[in-house]
Amino acid sequence: MKRSAFAMPTGIYLDGNSLGVMPHAAQARVQGRLDQWRRQAALGWDDWFHLAEALSPSIARLVGALPGEVIATGSITANLHALLSTLYRPEGTRRVIVATALDFPTDLYALQAWAERGGGTLRLVPSRDGQTLHQGDLHAALEPDVALALFPTVLYRSGQRLDVAGLTAAGHAAGALVGWDAAHSIGAMPHDFHAVGADFAVWCHYKYVNAGPGAPGGLYLHERWHDRAPGLYLHERWHDRAPGLPGRACHDKGNQFEMTPVYRKATGAGAYQMGTPSILALAALEGALSVFDGLELNEVRTRSLALTDHLIALADRHLPEMTVVTPRPHAERGGHVSLLHPQARSLSAALRALGVVPDYREPDILRLAPVALYTTEGEVAEVVRLLRTLLDSGQHLRQGAADGPVT
Ligand SMILES: Cc1ncc(COP(=O)(O)O)c(C=O)c1O
Repeated sequence: MKRSAFAMPTGIYLDGNSLGVMPHAAQARVQGRLDQWRRQAALGWDDWFHLAEALSPSIARLVGALPGEVIATGSITANLHALLSTLYRPEGTRRVIVATALDFPTDLYALQAWAERGGGTLRLVPSRDGQTLHQGDLHAALEPDVALALFPTVLYRSGQRLDVAGLTAAGHAAGALVGWDAAHSIGAMPHDFHAVGADFAVWCHYKYVNAGPGAPGGLYLHERWHDRAPGLYLHERWHDRAPGLPGRACHDKGNQFEMTPVYRKATGAGAYQMGTPSILALAALEGALSVFDGLELNEVRTRSLALTDHLIALADRHLPEMTVVTPRPHAERGGHVSLLHPQARSLSAALRALGVVPDYREPDILRLAPVALYTTEGEVAEVVRLLRTLLDSGQHLRQGAADGPVT
């Protein structure tokens, strides 16, 4: 759809759900910001000071939020801590945090720490098959003792997509706040966090948004948790949901340089940044977001589904010994397809030796992400053909597993 906008590596790249390919625009913007630093040095801050906020309209479009509800900052982990420190208010018997047994571990580490701090517990929705979550189990976990729930929009291993609207409504009906980890959906499909009333969300920009390794993450906080107007907050009189981890970057930008000891909270999600942002990292994000300008997210999703449909059909036909663990209904599928096989590790290593970059997850999952913006149907077919050849020849077993998982 936009392949020429990317510096495609040689071979076949199917790992965009781990790290997206570099857009030419990202390289150009980083170079531009480097030039600006060389020419202007500290005077560049007149422009850089508002860079994170300037990206919010483009990011808000990707997650279905108001521009003031999102900010590019931190990482998923850092943003989870910032939001939990603000939103997790255990009271009486309502102290439980709900997550799932199939969540990415970093989320669980952060949630566990806050549950312990709040005298609560972390309740994990179990998986019946080790790969996916059952709708009934997710709803059953949302009991009246739940203070806050965090769910992944798309599971990182199996690629199962959860029902954002339904679970948000169920959590609210139980009196809990509901947040989302959108790492595996942002940039691959439309979102509607504001419309469904989700309380908060976190995501990274290094997967389907293609903003580079360690790119600044993103957070969304529904406007119901914002002040209507910037206010004056002395520490002892903070607003109920003022940032739990405040710093100078969440101070009102209008008078941040007065350097007073009195904290004045910024309006909107910008208040949940902490310290000085990395301008060079934001520059890569700036370039990566420009690739989405003029792209309809529904069309991105349509192409993504066509590619994963194609991959699943070919796997069913040609790779019967590999089990497709990604759900087949479109509504329950994210942007990648996961194939289960006991030799997944050595198959992944052998594909790499043949110039294909797949993604491997311990102990037996081969993840393949045909990315709507840059993967072709021909590449999908070629990878299935190569897998068939490997399984027939056993070449992957002879060559030994030389690679490991990548983050
Ligand atoms: C669902 C999910 N959450 C979180 C992370 C990582 O979080 P962070 O960017 O803070 O390292 C990943 C990384 O792949 C992920 O897939």
